[in-house]
Amino acid sequence: MTTPLYECLINKKTSIKPIWLMRQAGRYLPEFREIRKVNSNFIKLCLNKDLCSEITLQPLKRFNLSAAIIFSDILMVPYALKQKVNFKKNFGPQLGDINLKDVNKEEFIKELKPIYHSIKKVKKDYLINKKNLIGFVGAPWTLLIYMLNKESPKKKIDNSLFNNKNLIDKILKKLEKFLIIHIQKQIENGADIIQIFDSWAGLINKKDIPKYIYEPTLNLVNFVKSKKIPVICFPRAIKNYKEYVENIKPDAISIDYQIDPNIVKKEIKIPIQGGLDPKVLLSNKENIRKEALKYLDIFKDHPYIFNLGHGVLPETDPMMVDYLVKFVNDY
Ligand code: CP3
Repeated sequence: MTTPLYECLINKKTSIKPIWLMRQAGRYLPEFREIRKVNSNFIKLCLNKDLCSEITLQPLKRFNLSAAIIFSDILMVPYALKQKVNFKKNFGPQLGDINLKDVNKEEFIKELKPIYHSIKKVKKDYLINKKNLIGFVGAPWTLLIYMLNKESPKKKIDNSLFNNKNLIDKILKKLEKFLIIHIQKQIENGADIIQIFDSWAGLINKKDIPKYIYEPTLNLVNFVKSKKIPVICFPRAIKNYKEYVENIKPDAISIDYQIDPNIVKKEIKIPIQGGLDPKVLLSNKENIRKEALKYLDIFKDHPYIFNLGHGVLPETDPMMVDYLVKFVNDY
């Protein structure tokens, strides 16, 4: 099967610019909010295979995107590792104490089975025809932060949690094992690209990067590659994307909005994704056009997947997303 994203990721074509958006299935869509209103438990919603497949396809009904990303959450893995996860209104995720006991592989898979069923269901829908279905996981480092800090580090972070190196090593090993299982099941059921979200890569000390980011992520990336599926990495706000790419060798690198795309283009030879500041979508058409054009022009002769530098913001007007997608598709 050839698709715009595969042409970019595998054949390194520069003539087509595929587009999808992180958090394209989410709160900015009134049809998502309708479902969310009557499903107050977010984890339960993520375990409802029919609603998850419906939400995954919602953006494809509106916009001509090159891929769907499965509606789920990176925190479903800590949840299946028997740590309580709760999404509090106007606060974000709230986790219980970490579970250090062993978790059985079959039980883990059983807990997350609705996710795999929803992938299977989406895969059969006509809307996904000639498009990709992106599966995903959180990177071990980012999950470790949520599991130890028990809430978003955006709110507060207790650095003393990171003093116990033995504990950290143990959690990272466990995460690696179960993330590989989670990736494998997503692929088995029809995910044909995997994205690894390392949303808090920017928080790490430089000296810890090899052990806590490169080593565990490389093992996941090599696993995806062994399945002959392309893998995109998003180490948000990592200062040195070049060194990251040299160490991890993903099929594409997703960049944030703080990094200068001109520098990235000069330093990195593999396909590049993203960059546009999600706040641009809160402005006006003229500005959206100008800012999108900046990325499209810079990456004109580079394999490039259009995307944002982080997720679509909840206050985004879907009309502006429509404008952006049409503009990129017409470029
Ligand atoms: O459209 C898509 O991208 C697919 C669905 C998706 C969600 N979460 C749904 C969601 C994806 C890919 C994620 C990944 C995710 N989840 C990340 C990595 C990407 C990033 O944004 O950095 C992280 C860090 C999380 C953890 C998480 N989940 C947080 C911090 C929050 C609360 C705040 C927020 O950003 O929304 C969530 C909840 C969440 N995950 C919502 C959605 C649609 C909002 C739920 C709601 O309140 O309705």
